[in-house]
Parts: sequence; C-alpha cells; structure tokens
Amino acid sequence: MPTDRIALITGANKGLGFEIARQLGPKGVHIIVGARDAQRGAEAVTKLKREGISAETVQLDVAKLGDLAATRAICDRHGRLDILINNAGIMIEHGKKASVVPMDLVRSTFETNFFGLIALTQALLPYIRKSPAGRIVNHSSMLGSLTINADPNSGIGDFQLLGYNASKAAVNMFTIQLAAELAGTQIKVNSAHPGWVKTDLGSDAAPMEVVDGAKTAVALALLGADGPTGGYFHLGKPLPW
Ligand SMILES: NC(=O)c1ccc[n+]([C@@H]2O[C@H](COP(=O)([O-])OP(=O)(O)OC[C@H]3O[C@@H](n4cnc5c(N)ncnc54)[C@H](OP(=O)(O)O)[C@@H]3O)[C@@H](O)[C@H]2O)c1
Repeated sequence: MPTDRIALITGANKGLGFEIARQLGPKGVHIIVGARDAQRGAEAVTKLKREGISAETVQLDVAKLGDLAATRAICDRHGRLDILINNAGIMIEHGKKASVVPMDLVRSTFETNFFGLIALTQALLPYIRKSPAGRIVNHSSMLGSLTINADPNSGIGDFQLLGYNASKAAVNMFTIQLAAELAGTQIKVNSAHPGWVKTDLGSDAAPMEVVDGAKTAVALALLGADGPTGGYFHLGKPLPW
C-alpha cells in the first residue's frame, strides 16, 4: 500500500492503538507500532502487514525515558514524523476512592498517562516540526473532564478514579498549552475521548466496539489544514473541559 505520511502510535500492540493503526494504514499512513514488549509489537506488525498495511515496530515504554533512543533513530531514518498518537495508558486503581487510593498507584498512573506522554512529545517535536502537516492526538478520556467530574448527575460515580481522571485532566492541560504554543505553525494538537470501549482497559461491560472507539483519534490524526487545534472531542463533537 503506498504511503505519504508516517505515524507513531504508542501502545499500538492491542486495543484502541492497534485499531487506530488498522484504520490509518489504508489512508496512506506508514505505521510505527510503539509497544513496550518487542514480541507483542512484532506480532502486531505481522497482523497489519497481512492486511496490506505498511508497518514497523519500536520498543517503547513511555514510562521509561531511556527507550527514546530507538524511537529517535526511526524518526531520523524517516526524516520526519507526521502523526503522533499518544495512546498508551493504564487504569489501575480498581475502584479505590480518593480518600484511600494508594499513592504508588496514583504515581504509576501519572508516569505512564502524563509524564511519559509529555516526555515523548517533547522528544519527537523536532521531527513533527519537519512535517508539512503535523498532527498530535492525545488519547484522553471524558473522565478527564473537570466539568463532568463535578456534575453529580453525570453518571460517572463508579469511575471517579483520582489518579486516572487527574492524569487525563493533566493531559488535557498539555493539549491546551502545546496547541497555544504551536498556534501559527502547521501542527495541530487535540485531545480525544474514544468512548467507553470494549478493550482490556474498558472491559467487556463497555457498550462501544473497538472499531468505533478508534474513530475519534483517526479523524483528528487526518485533520485538514482548516481543522481545529487545542480541542477536546468525541466523534467530532466538543467535550466540556
Ligand atoms: N477503553 C476505553 O473505554 C477508554 C476510554 C477512554 C479512554 N481510553 C484511553 O485509550 C487509550 C487506550 O486504551 P485501551 O482501551 O486500548 O487499553 P488497552 O487495551 O489496555 O491497551 C493499552 C495499551 O497501552 C499500552 N501501555 C500501557 N502502559 C504502557 C507503557 N508504559 N508504555 C507503552 N505502552 C504502554 C499497553 O501495552 P501492553 O499490551 O504491553 O500492556 C497496550 O498496548 C488509553 O490511553 C486509555 O486511557 C480508553
């Protein structure tokens, strides 16, 4: 399949990240599968190639900054990066309320969902600046919305997870600030809420299929020059911060 853009998707060996790769590939995008386990990354690439998608993998644990050398080397080889999908994420608090949630779970959640995301984006920004139309998509969640968390009728009572929700609110802050800083460049930065999706993280109780869950991030990755930046979206509709 001929390609004219290059995308790195973190946590692309399964779940939403893998499905985003499946949907971007046929749009002429060469996929770099970020995977913290090299074997799982290689297996994902094999599956993508079976569908005719151009793909390679890089071992990338976003909670371990030392891993960035290999990622930089791939971007050096391509000479630029057009699309960065910051998708890797964890939810590990399992219903523990804010008054008792262990600090190590909150810290670990932030390491992956927030600090790793920022460090990777900062490291790769020089390559994204070389793209004629750079797109950064941060996989947030509606659980990162302060407005929704503050609404007693929002229905997210069982999902008031301090570390997870705060890490996604922090991701949204990064989206806003980076988009403002890059206004006037060719780079767009947006936050995506995929929906509550049937994945290992979302569980079988989720109402949405993974094929639909990937759509918000894919659309933001393929935005045209007239598309928004600094926004927070679910299936094309803005969410309250
Ligand atoms: N599913 C939902 O309902 C839902 C809703 C809102 C937002 N989201 C967000 O969507 C994103 C994807 O979630 P998902 O539902 O697809 O979850 P998933 O099926 O559990 O997949 C998560 C992916 O992230 C990877 N990952 C975790 N920690 C990592 C690290 N330190 N470095 C690199 N990769 C790491 C996992 O790798 P391994 O295979 O090695 O574990 C896996 O590839 C997350 O950011 C999540 O917060 C999901």
